[in-house]
Amino acid sequence: MSHAMSMPSVPASLPDQWSPASWQQRQALQQPVYEDAGELAQAARELAALPPLVTSWEVLALKQALADAQEGKRFLLQGGDCAESFADCTSPIISNRLKVLLQMSLVLVHGLKKPVLRVGRFAGQYAKPRSTDTETREGVTLPSFRGDLVNSPDFTPEARRADPRRLLQAHANSALTMNFVRALIDGGFADLHHPEYWDLAWVEHSPLAAEYRRMVAAIGDSLRFMETLAGPIAGFSRVDFFTSHEALLLHYEEALTRQVPRHQGWFNLSTHFPWIGMRTAALDGAHVEYFRGIRNPVAVKVGPSVTPDQLLPLIDALNPEDEPGRLTLIHRMGSAAIGRALPPLLEAVRREGRRVLWVADPMHGNTETTSNGYKTRRFDNIRGELDQAFDIHASAGTRLGGVHLELTGENVTECMGGARDLSEVDLERAYKSMVDPRLNYEQSLELAMLIVRKSAGSLPG
Ligand code: PEP
Ligand code: CO
Repeated sequence: MSHAMSMPSVPASLPDQWSPASWQQRQALQQPVYEDAGELAQAARELAALPPLVTSWEVLALKQALADAQEGKRFLLQGGDCAESFADCTSPIISNRLKVLLQMSLVLVHGLKKPVLRVGRFAGQYAKPRSTDTETREGVTLPSFRGDLVNSPDFTPEARRADPRRLLQAHANSALTMNFVRALIDGGFADLHHPEYWDLAWVEHSPLAAEYRRMVAAIGDSLRFMETLAGPIAGFSRVDFFTSHEALLLHYEEALTRQVPRHQGWFNLSTHFPWIGMRTAALDGAHVEYFRGIRNPVAVKVGPSVTPDQLLPLIDALNPEDEPGRLTLIHRMGSAAIGRALPPLLEAVRREGRRVLWVADPMHGNTETTSNGYKTRRFDNIRGELDQAFDIHASAGTRLGGVHLELTGENVTECMGGARDLSEVDLERAYKSMVDPRLNYEQSLELAMLIVRKSAGSLPG
């Protein structure tokens, strides 16, 4: 969220026949049914009059930073909740999530020896795609929960009704989250001279604590050494942080799509970095239509059924001019499928010479349900997918430029395995996720350490 980075020079031409509402002419999957069109229109009008959450300057600075990542000069760490909830818009939850992301990025900076680009899955991650439109319990069928932006998880007809006023509440909660994150970061919370600000209580007891503390001490030593020679180094005292969410509910995104005085084109100013989910990435669908017209850097989730024949036209639609930093592809294949599904895609994109940032999401292809009914992910599968991703990129001559993770700063037990080897029985202890299982702080830090170890062996320069 700084203005320090230079601006990209590529001019924006407005795509043909595009407007912030042109998506409405296409099929829009995963949208709720609102009972009263007038009520929805009223909420969208109010939203469109409110200030945006981010600025075009920040959006363009992030695009430049992503262009650097495409060239291997930065590594992207994108992470946060699967679904934010209004109830979790609290000081400890926001600051603990920020702490774990900062701790992970410290590990990555130290181990990868390059700057880490930090992007949160927060301040707007309130809409969820679902596999079915309805949910049935004991003979009663109601609309599925689609995230706090749409309805509420309680299983009653009132709670599950799609309520357009939630568009305004989501904007307000996103603004509260952003405000707190910005204040913490500007206030020195992210100061590399004081990583002790980010210690979570667990560091005392974790099997990883010693390794983390050694790393912090080493960074402190080098910082003091450099500053003895060169004087205080301003860049180390603050950290950039950007936001992202799945831009799923297009009425919300449209209302926050704006023009600004000194930049051409349209910006989605609800977030720096919106992405298209796997279920809504059809070439002729509403989401691709909306995304092709905004100037933000954008990402698309790519699942194991995508073929090169589908991927290349999508790249053309979203980045026709091959603009640096514009397009990120987040592959989420599953540890069993990545070896088969990823190589043809890497090969096709490389052959066509298209500029993308490849990022691995080792979470969403590894979801399973345990015999006691919990949706979970095994740490070994998450790690396995990530290890394979590094190897597959290395042998394809492409670069894995980042990771996309679902995590929390809380001591939850949602994913199995990790340093404390959480089991099926442990899941009952602290399972809090409303949608997908997240890495807890310890598993997140462990994964960051494993990324460093793995990439030391296989990352091209
Ligand atoms: C998500 O990121 O929470 C998600 C639903 O991912 P995907 O679209 O990859 O399934
Ligand atoms: Co998820």
